[in-house]
Amino acid sequence: MNLEIWKQLEDAVANCRKCSLWKTRSNPVVGGGSKDAKVMFIGEAPGYWEDVKGRPFVGRAGRVLDELLESINLSREEVYITNILKCRPPNNRNPLQSEIEACTPYLDRQIELMNPEIIATLGNFALSYISEKFGLDLENVGGVHGKVFKIKTLFGDITIIPLYHPAAAVYNPALKEVLLRDIRAIKAASDGNCTVKV
Ligand code: URA
Ligand code: SF4
Repeated sequence: MNLEIWKQLEDAVANCRKCSLWKTRSNPVVGGGSKDAKVMFIGEAPGYWEDVKGRPFVGRAGRVLDELLESINLSREEVYITNILKCRPPNNRNPLQSEIEACTPYLDRQIELMNPEIIATLGNFALSYISEKFGLDLENVGGVHGKVFKIKTLFGDITIIPLYHPAAAVYNPALKEVLLRDIRAIKAASDGNCTVKV
């Protein structure tokens, strides 16, 4: 892990004005957890508390994510968590296509630096970006959640696992059950000799 390069990336995001979201954000959220992790989670964008604290998934959706991780014996420190957008859209509205285009070079760089074995997408925005980036044709999480897609890249194989967004499970116990079942695919896909303890 090259800390100097990560620092440059964090500084670039902190000073970024590539879309208008810098004007209304309190703090950018670059990511959190271990940059050496084998598993990367990608959500949508910071919400209220993430914007306040500058850390990913620290609100209600974050508590669901913690529960999911705990169910497969993973802690936050053993995975890396980031988002499609690094700044909060006002009132948590959906990301605009123009914002996604402006911001995802940072995500691309994070993926390149981490070279994760497993990418778990949370919700449709992360799924469609990652699907397109890796030449998959996955548009809707409803049809593919919990399935495992293996991609060959020049830098090694990546396993893509689409999951529902944890925010969708905050008031929906049935969906939480689906997420608890689906996240086991991460445990199954990890090979046991990485930072993932299974
Ligand atoms: N929802 C997201 O997509 N990302 C966060 O960081 C928090 C909530
Ligand atoms: Fe820059 Fe991304 Fe923030 Fe837009 S959302 S200002 S592109 S860091």
